Amino acid sequence: MNIKEQTFGKTSDDKNIILYTLTNANGLTAKLINYGAILTTLELPGRDGKFTDVTLGYDTLEDYIKDDCYFGATVGRCANRIAKGKFTLNGKEYCLATNNGPNHLHGGIKGFNKVVWDAEVFEEKTGPAIKFTYLSKDNEEGYPGNLTVTVIYWLTNDNELKISYQAETDKSTPVNLTHHSYFNLAGHDSGDVLSHELTINADSFTETDETLVPTGEIKSVKDTPLDFTTTVRIADHINQVEGGFDHNYVLNNKNSSLTLAAHVYEPTTGRDMELYTTEPGVQFYSGNFLDGVKGKNGAVYKKHSGFCLETQHFPDSPNKPQFPSVILEPVKKYTQLTVYKFSVK
Ligand code: GLA
Repeated sequence: MNIKEQTFGKTSDDKNIILYTLTNANGLTAKLINYGAILTTLELPGRDGKFTDVTLGYDTLEDYIKDDCYFGATVGRCANRIAKGKFTLNGKEYCLATNNGPNHLHGGIKGFNKVVWDAEVFEEKTGPAIKFTYLSKDNEEGYPGNLTVTVIYWLTNDNELKISYQAETDKSTPVNLTHHSYFNLAGHDSGDVLSHELTINADSFTETDETLVPTGEIKSVKDTPLDFTTTVRIADHINQVEGGFDHNYVLNNKNSSLTLAAHVYEPTTGRDMELYTTEPGVQFYSGNFLDGVKGKNGAVYKKHSGFCLETQHFPDSPNKPQFPSVILEPVKKYTQLTVYKFSVK
């Protein structure tokens, strides 16, 4: 089996955290831990055949426990912001933990990135995989209903990191899961990502207020620096956007089939990433809040050292009836599929 397990640490309540290394037929490796269902490392070849770790992260469990950047994390129960941490569902108001100014962000104080998941590794013809499961109890961070969540990561022999999500609940609840890796295709410790070339298949985005909560308006990207409908070096637009990119794009695909959402190319190493998803939105975040974070192998991550493409439903959906719904009903199943496909060009 192309899967290795080693001890990574112990939580304060004595739970063993294991580092799982998945290796595919081409020698690519993905490392994951059962704390936060976090991807800690992704090693990909470049044009010169050299393998380099392309995701930002830490060396120790203690650092992941302290982390407030969401490096490599599985994010839930609701990714992104919920205004004032409040929403009303079936006539009842729910108050969630607020952890981002006045708002709820990425599941709250102890989101899915800060809990211990059950893990099970397996191997299929398509490559090695790991299945994480977690029961989020009724009222956790203020959310209604017991929610059973499954996240499976595959490292396929086609050089894809494929992430599939499922969730079921016993009460109506909002659910919006995402993956929060920061990529730098030149290498996690290679400086900023501004020379990466980006395309996003989105003609519009959700406009936000000064706390990054959507106003409810969907605006066209045309004639704005947010326009990545044709390929743009991130550097060529970033100075025109105050604070950098931290925007939810409304993807052009409207039918929840697995569709190309974005494409990123790093010219010096030739590494190329295609992002496919069944989700209606993707948050493009250019690592604006990284401020000298001490990471793996002595690396120091500064502003724009990595970028995130977080596939998800739109922010603040529980308060925006005009957005695609994130409410999961007890009789239904939440599903999501997102694929990061890597190659060298
Ligand atoms: C998301 C948000 C950002 C920031 C990061 C984590 O991408 O949109 O504003 O909070 O997570 O630092």
